[in-house]
Amino acid sequence: MAKISASVYTSHVPAIGAAIDLKKTGEAYWQPLFAGYEYSKQWMKDNTPDVIFLVFNDHATAFSLDIIPTFAIGTAAEFTPADEGWGPRPVPKVIGHPELASHIAQSVIQDDFDLTIVNRMDVDHGLTVPLSLMCGEPQAWPCPVIPFAVNVVQYPVPSGRRCFQLGQAIRRAVESFDQDLKVQIWGTGGMSHQLQGARAGLINREWDNAFLDRLIADPAGQAEVSHIDYVREAGSEGIELVMWLIARGAMSDIAGGPAPTLKHRFYHVPASNTAVGHLILENN
Ligand code: DHB
Ligand code: FE
Repeated sequence: MAKISASVYTSHVPAIGAAIDLKKTGEAYWQPLFAGYEYSKQWMKDNTPDVIFLVFNDHATAFSLDIIPTFAIGTAAEFTPADEGWGPRPVPKVIGHPELASHIAQSVIQDDFDLTIVNRMDVDHGLTVPLSLMCGEPQAWPCPVIPFAVNVVQYPVPSGRRCFQLGQAIRRAVESFDQDLKVQIWGTGGMSHQLQGARAGLINREWDNAFLDRLIADPAGQAEVSHIDYVREAGSEGIELVMWLIARGAMSDIAGGPAPTLKHRFYHVPASNTAVGHLILENN
C-alpha cells in the first residue's frame, strides 16, 4: 500500500525562482533566505519519495476568469513550466503520476469532494518555486509530481475547514492505492503578504508564527479560522495559507496516529513582498 511519509510546507514567491535562475542566491538580500533551505535540500536527498502530491495555487496562468475550479487534480503524464510573461523558468518539465492521480481522483470524489480533473495544465511559480527550493537545480526533478491546484485567487475561496477535511480524504485515497509508494504531500503559498490596494506590503510576523505553531500542534483549531481572518491578519494573498491545511490534514495524527516529528522550521522576512515560512513534518 502507498503511504504518506512526510509533509512539507513552503512559500512560493516568484522572485525566489528568478533569484535562482539568475544566479543571485549568494547576494546579501537572498543569502539568509536560501540558507534556511540548506537543511531541506539535504533532507530531500536523504528522504526522496516516490511521488510528491503538490498542493499549490495557479495565478491566472493555467486557469482564467473563464473557468475557476476550486480544487483541480492534475492527472496528465507531464506538465510544462508556464510562461508567466518573462518566459518559462528554465527548470525541468514536471513528470506526473497518472495512475496514482486517477486513483486519488476516484477515491476523493467518491468520498464526496468534487474535484476538477485536469488532463492538460501548465504550472507556474506556485509549483516550480517550491520544487526549486527543496530540490535545487537538478537536470530532472527527483520524482513524479501530482499537481493539485486550489483556487485562492478569485473569491469565493474554500474554507480552511474544507481544506483540512480534504487532506484527510487524500490520505485515505493514498493509503488505498495498491502499490508500495512513499508519498510526500506539500502545502505551498503564503505566508503574510498583500500585493495590491491600500495595504500593499503588509507583513504580520506575529500572526505568521502563531499560524506555524498552531499548524504543528493544533491543526484542527487552525482549520476553524475563517477566510476573513486570514485576509485581515495576513493580507489578501495571505489566504494562500489555507492550502497548508490540506497537507496537514493528510498526516497520520489526524486519523488517530502518533504526532509527527518537526524536522525543520524556518521563517524569514522579506522575500519580495512576502514573508517566507517553511516546515517539514515527518510521519511516525
Ligand atoms: C509575490 C508573492 C506571491 O505569492 C505571488 O504569487 C506573486 C508575487 C511577491 O511577494 O512578489
Ligand atoms: Fe502567490
